[in-house]
Amino acid sequence: MVPESLAQSKLEKAAAFNDGCLRCHGAQGLKMKYNGKIVSLWVEETAFKKSMHGTSACTICHIGFTDYPHIGAQKGEALVKEVNARCQECHADVNKVYQNSAHGRALLNGKKTALCSDCHGFHDIRKHEDPASKVYKNNIPHTCTKCHQHRIAESYEESFHGKAVILGSQQSASCVDCHGKHDILGPKAETSPVNKANIPKTCAKCHRVVNENWAKGSEHFLIEKEGSGKPMFYTLKFFVWLTIIVCAGLMMIMELELYRKFKKALQKKNT
Ligand code: HEC
Ligand code: HEC
Ligand code: HEC
Ligand code: HEC
Ligand code: HEC
Ligand code: HEC
Ligand code: HEC
Repeated sequence: MVPESLAQSKLEKAAAFNDGCLRCHGAQGLKMKYNGKIVSLWVEETAFKKSMHGTSACTICHIGFTDYPHIGAQKGEALVKEVNARCQECHADVNKVYQNSAHGRALLNGKKTALCSDCHGFHDIRKHEDPASKVYKNNIPHTCTKCHQHRIAESYEESFHGKAVILGSQQSASCVDCHGKHDILGPKAETSPVNKANIPKTCAKCHRVVNENWAKGSEHFLIEKEGSGKPMFYTLKFFVWLTIIVCAGLMMIMELELYRKFKKALQKKNT
């Protein structure tokens, strides 16, 4: 245990150090040109102070940025990767799991992927139970669909689970309830919770009665002419046309009935 007075002086030191950085970076207008684009260098002070790392020095993540001018400092993608290596160092237990996930393996192979800061943010990281956290249950779909767009995002938003979670349900399934979080793997991986063999177990976390067909169907399909949504596409088409025809028929009956009444009323008036 750190004696309280020592811990206190450490906090004060960090705050005083950060004030130095925030003299420049606390200004909303601080910008630079990088790769032909204007990049904001503003750090929102109040959000940072309320974050999980808000009582630590900026340099826990930005090693090397101890003074200005920032000599030899990284920029752009190199900076983002460098800082994420700091997250991985401190959160070594999470990193061990992450490295074996689809995202972690892609990083090791130098491919596009999700880094820690893509899912968690950086200057505004909150505890995961905090509704302001990017990984709070109801915010997860938004966080994942920044990258997994189109079929995945749309099929989820159309699903029972998606509708419920977006409306604030705590019981329904967000992306991570089916996929895991730091151990996410694609459906081909044997240990993945969305591998055909493991789907019944995954659904059984919440559904006491698991329908055998659930592992046969596809979770992320769009109602389209081609692909796994084909039967649904034609079923939907059928019911849409059925509805149109029934409504049109009803309207015709109503109009004929009105016409009949109108004619009768006219006849009465004329006699
Ligand atoms: C005198 C103003 C000033 C101070 C003080 C200052 N910075 Fe900077 N910082 C800048 C400017 C301007 C840039 C733009 C690049 C450059 O000029 O090096 C920058 C760039 C950065 C970047 C890189 C942004 C990028 O995307 O390339 C980081 C990270 C950073 N500063 C962190 C810090 C930290 C941490 C501190 C405190 C130890 C600090 N700065 C103190 C002005 C300042
Ligand atoms: C928990 C780690 C962490 C801490 C603590 C932290 N930063 Fe950052 N910072 C990051 C990450 C990650 C990025 C890159 C984010 C990106 O652009 O994707 C970043 C980016 C920046 C940038 C570039 C502009 C931007 O918003 O992308 C500046 C400037 C900066 N930080 C300054 C600071 C200052 C000043 C402090 C302290 C008050 C600080 N940072 C504390 C993680 C951190
Ligand atoms: C694909 C998105 C994603 C990536 C990438 C990711 N996380 Fe997470 N992380 C989550 C989610 C989702 C939760 C919380 C879920 C829950 O339990 O409610 C979480 C929770 C956490 C927690 C809280 C403790 C725990 O284990 O639940 C820590 C700490 C954490 N992540 C750190 C990291 C670090 C460090 C990295 C990079 C090595 C990282 N995360 C990468 C999505 C991600
Ligand atoms: C110097 C070590 C250090 C660095 C670097 C660091 N963290 Fe942390 N992080 C901590 C500590 C300590 C906590 C607080 C743990 C607690 O109180 O539960 C924390 C808390 C968190 C939490 C909240 C955990 C929860 O319970 O929900 C997340 C998420 C997180 N960090 C992600 C990151 C990410 C992402 C980065 C890089 C951008 C990063 N950390 C960099 C030490 C660090
Ligand atoms: C910054 C973008 C980004 C974010 C955010 C992100 N991912 Fe990913 N994800 C990727 C990329 C890129 C890949 C492909 C990695 C590879 O090359 O194998 C991937 C791979 C996957 C895979 C494996 C796909 C397969 O067929 O093998 C799953 C499942 C997945 N992500 C789910 C999620 C979930 C769930 C979340 C949110 C908790 C999330 N992702 C957040 C970019 C992202
Ligand atoms: C985190 C818990 C959770 C997980 C995991 C989960 N579900 Fe659900 N599911 C729910 C809840 C709660 C409802 C009812 C409320 C709603 O519409 O979201 C529901 C509703 C449904 C419905 C529509 C209503 C019904 O009962 O017919 C289907 C179909 C369904 N789930 C299938 C699945 C399948 C398939 C899986 C596994 C791939 C799965 N669920 C995993 C919680 C979960
Ligand atoms: C009810 C469980 C469930 C939920 C909720 C869910 N998924 Fe999936 N996901 C699956 C299953 C099962 C597969 C395997 C392939 C299939 O059935 O479509 C899969 C496959 C994937 C794949 C990779 C394969 C492909 O089809 O391209 C990605 C990426 C993915 N999901 C991302 C997400 C994201 C992002 C969310 C949240 C917005 C999400 N999933 C929500 C069960 C789920």
